[in-house]
Amino acid sequence: MANEQKVKKIYVCDTDFSEREVRGYKLDGQWILILKFQGSYHAMDASCAHSGYPLFKGTIDEKGVLTCPLHYAQFNCQTGAIVSEPPICPNQDLFDIAVEDNKIYWLK
Ligand code: FES
Repeated sequence: MANEQKVKKIYVCDTDFSEREVRGYKLDGQWILILKFQGSYHAMDASCAHSGYPLFKGTIDEKGVLTCPLHYAQFNCQTGAIVSEPPICPNQDLFDIAVEDNKIYWLK
């Protein structure tokens, strides 16, 4: 197929996170944020959609709200949707990952 794009599968880390833990990794020239919430792993752009602060320095509360520590933008940690009121920035971009044999891969 002419439009078929090759997906790169990049090893990120092992699945040894605590519940609601957030980490950042620089891979392939880009920062990726990995988090664990309710037993599932999610990945998103590590630069806050508001002003680019490292979002992996934020925290996730028990409802799954990820808060950036710089200006307190809040995102749904599973969808990346901005949940701050008022919404001070766009949604956070999500990245595709695969979890296999206790390892997390970025499908870039
Ligand atoms: S950079 Fe994250 S809230 Fe401003």
